[in-house]
Amino acid sequence: MNLCVCTGRQRGVGVGNFADEINKRRTFAIISHPDAGKTTLTEKFLLYGGAINLAGSVKGKATARHAVSDWMQIEKERGISVTSSVLQFEYGGFCINILDTPGHQDFSEDTYRTLMAADSAVMVIDASKGVEAQTRKLFKVCVMRHIPIFTFINKMDRDANDTFTLLDEIEKELGIATCPINWPIGSGKGFKGVYERESKCVITYSDTEKGTKEGHATRIPIAQDALLTEQIGEDYKAQLLDEIELLDGASAEYDLELIQAGELTPVFFGSALTNFGVEIFLQHFLKMTTTPLPRKSDIGLIDPVEHDFSAFVFKIQANMNKAHRDRVAFMRICSGRFDAGAEVKHVQGGKVMRLSQPQQIMADERKILDEAYAGDIIGVFDPGIFSIGDTICMPKEQFEYEGIPTFAPEHFARVRQIDTMKRKQFVKGITQIAQEGAIQIFQEFNTGMEEIIVGVVGVLQFDVLKYRLENEYNVEIKLENLPYEHIRWIENSDIDLDKLTGTSDMKKIKDLKGNPLLLFVNQWSVGMTAERNEGLVLSEFGRS
Ligand code: G4P
Repeated sequence: MNLCVCTGRQRGVGVGNFADEINKRRTFAIISHPDAGKTTLTEKFLLYGGAINLAGSVKGKATARHAVSDWMQIEKERGISVTSSVLQFEYGGFCINILDTPGHQDFSEDTYRTLMAADSAVMVIDASKGVEAQTRKLFKVCVMRHIPIFTFINKMDRDANDTFTLLDEIEKELGIATCPINWPIGSGKGFKGVYERESKCVITYSDTEKGTKEGHATRIPIAQDALLTEQIGEDYKAQLLDEIELLDGASAEYDLELIQAGELTPVFFGSALTNFGVEIFLQHFLKMTTTPLPRKSDIGLIDPVEHDFSAFVFKIQANMNKAHRDRVAFMRICSGRFDAGAEVKHVQGGKVMRLSQPQQIMADERKILDEAYAGDIIGVFDPGIFSIGDTICMPKEQFEYEGIPTFAPEHFARVRQIDTMKRKQFVKGITQIAQEGAIQIFQEFNTGMEEIIVGVVGVLQFDVLKYRLENEYNVEIKLENLPYEHIRWIENSDIDLDKLTGTSDMKKIKDLKGNPLLLFVNQWSVGMTAERNEGLVLSEFGRS
């Protein structure tokens, strides 16, 4: 599939409407549990943006996933997506950046980090499954950042759970209030459409629009009783009227401030596959979501419009394309306009430089950019100088963006190189891969042993590590899985680790900076250890 993308940038935009360019940007990530319909929804968004011509070009998720991030051999072999990509398109006067995250269960820390570059998140939930494990984890990161979260309850063309139960589950499991913007009428074979609360209209469902852009759904004002009965039937109408009454009495009121503070999630219902409710969602979403947000730095908040160009690195990807054999640093532009020819400062490296080959990276296509704006993501060639969380700003300036936290890995393995003569390559390789943020590496705590323990968020990263060490560093490794699933950073700097009373399954380790950490087999042990050691503060997020 060839994604042809229309962007404001390629047309060249003058300095005069620079603030307009930033204000029309909407940068968001889509989060979901695998198979909830993230890829399908993304495809439909792109269709509305005119970025791809769906008819006949996209058959299924396999095609789509490969099209957007067919980067590593391992992806091809497994038929899944390991890396993330960025999609940009224009719709209704907005310039939309979708940060795509790996959809497979074996997601990585990159998935979390991508959320650090987004200004809002769209949470896709399968109507017959409700809140699932991966949604919960990603949701936590959104909450930590207080970014707005929009919920799309998908697959209404299949039998769905009770709507009130679904909302209740979101509220209880995720701890966020819900505000339905529309309300489904039936589901599965009996799916009749949605009732839009603001306009008090029923939008009728038809699955004949599958794959096409223009919907033929009819809008019927709820007051048009006879027409409504004709379209959805007496029983569904009666049920709808009852539910509307209940809903108006029970659900949280629409409050844009709370939505933008990430405390209230607007909820929409639809069917991405049959293309129902997607454009309605997009239109409401764009009205409610935010322009690029100011970002915290050590000199205070940096305003996207008021401030000159600045960005931070949120992802580093090596070997995205065998033909290029390179390392690319992905940056989220936080303020101002990026001008490809201009000198910038890499704050952590203390160097003034020109960013090499700035590009927009989509699928296997790379477009060299002349300019980009706050809200956009650019990829630049990285000769090995950038680290995740680094700040780039104008040469005359000096500030650092707040670091990106390290997210708790859930799988651990002891790793050894098979050929002991290759220790140097092994250490170099594993350290470089860890710098990219694909894996985290630890060492035994004060045992004098030199063995390395690797922690990953998704087990696939073990395969990626093995594959890359063999292919890029010519080092074969052996991984011995460890039983731990929980890691905690110790927040107290004054804690005496030797005196710590833990559970029998607890293991002390340290990161490369020497910070102590604790590994546990189960959640119970985490709680027990916290209880047994008064004042001990354990955290799920580390500092990079
Ligand atoms: P993901 O990215 O969240 O992992 O999900 P994806 O979009 O790949 O969708 C997972 C499966 O669910 C796909 O079916 C897709 O067609 C289906 N699906 C997505 N949205 C809807 C919907 O609104 N209604 C129904 N009925 N199905 C939906 P598949 O058979 O696994 O893949 P494919 O062969 O269709 O590509």
